[in-house]
Amino acid sequence: MRSSLPKLAFFFCPTFIFGDAKRKVGTRTGDVTKRNESQLAVFLCIISKQSPMKYRKFGNNEQLSAIGLGCMSMSHAYGTPNDEESIATLNLALDLGINFWDTADVYGSGKNEELISKVLVPNRSKVFIATKFGFTANADNTGMTFNGSPAYMRKAIENSLKRLKIDTIDLYYAHRIDPNVPVEEMVGAMAELVKEGKVRYIGLSEASVTSIRKAHTVHPISAVQSEYSLLTRDVEKDVLPVCKELGITFVPFSPLARGLMTNTLNLATLPDTDFRKKLPRYQQAHQENNQQLASAFAQLAIAWVLAQGDNIIPIPGTKKRKNLADNAGSIDVQLQPRHLQEIEELLAKYPNVGDRYDEASRKMVDKSNA
Ligand SMILES: NC(=O)c1ccc[n+]([C@@H]2O[C@H](COP(=O)([O-])OP(=O)(O)OC[C@H]3O[C@@H](n4cnc5c(N)ncnc54)[C@H](OP(=O)(O)O)[C@@H]3O)[C@@H](O)[C@H]2O)c1
Repeated sequence: MRSSLPKLAFFFCPTFIFGDAKRKVGTRTGDVTKRNESQLAVFLCIISKQSPMKYRKFGNNEQLSAIGLGCMSMSHAYGTPNDEESIATLNLALDLGINFWDTADVYGSGKNEELISKVLVPNRSKVFIATKFGFTANADNTGMTFNGSPAYMRKAIENSLKRLKIDTIDLYYAHRIDPNVPVEEMVGAMAELVKEGKVRYIGLSEASVTSIRKAHTVHPISAVQSEYSLLTRDVEKDVLPVCKELGITFVPFSPLARGLMTNTLNLATLPDTDFRKKLPRYQQAHQENNQQLASAFAQLAIAWVLAQGDNIIPIPGTKKRKNLADNAGSIDVQLQPRHLQEIEELLAKYPNVGDRYDEASRKMVDKSNA
């Protein structure tokens, strides 16, 4: 994947976007002329992380960091867990003002919530914590089952509260829409949790506009979380406009296309257990195409998502301090209309991106629009 400089890298050339910043770097380093343009761009990423975090409005006047922290990979799906580094990453998130943390009960079958609680509990007032219910890993390790029934949800929330060691979850999502449970019934049960003070806000994940609209008539939906990145744009058709119309914050998951958009992902070295091994997009057939689109700099991919609307708060995932600091810097990357236009042209030139999900994962996505 790293044999040549990807086309999107050029959007980060200092003369392209960072004309003024280039001069600033020059005065700080003195040896700036020895670097080639892409190295310079990396350096710019490093200095931009020092800016204070920016915040976006959520729900009832909450201020959430414009970039959240996806905690899944600390315990689940990608690579090998490293709890010590993950704890350090969570502490760095506090230092950087990243106050919107995302987990789910299924990540590491509860281990992710337990891990987060170690930093969350002593810093409870500084963190807006989101978790999700509904998935359980099958006992024989063959995949996942989803259950969105009120009875299951009741048990799931008690377990999440116990693992997180808190009394109230700030944002509680249904991880998927259960085709066997009317969405109004599920959200009605979630609304009971709000009344009881166990949950402050309600969210849906990978929901269709039909489900979002139905749910919103039962109780305000404050967040919709779905995959959204330079490579996954399905939500632009109807979900993003509906979120805007109803005053819902849209939370893009996998804004880096599960690492693909960073141009650091080496598919050949992923362990067999890595979730991405099963997904079409990460296979050989799409490698050449996607190599041209990998942005080389995570900041560009995140900045692009941020530029799509001020009701959007992406949650790039990482278990490493270095990557977290890098991602935090994307709030300073201002993409002008002409850059967005050129990105569109580049995406149109390389359409062989590949499906984001395999058959098993696709089955779990809400199809109630159909
Ligand atoms: N609702 C849902 O169904 C759903 C599904 C998937 C994810 N999510 C949530 O969304 C969050 C983010 O999505 P994601 O983790 O799937 O994908 P992502 O944010 O698109 O990418 C994460 C991957 O990129 C790497 N990475 C992050 N920052 C980097 C940087 N600056 N440079 C190089 N590599 C970098 C991470 O590696 P390291 O970990 O080694 O840093 C990890 O492998 C998750 O953590 C989870 O909370 C929700």
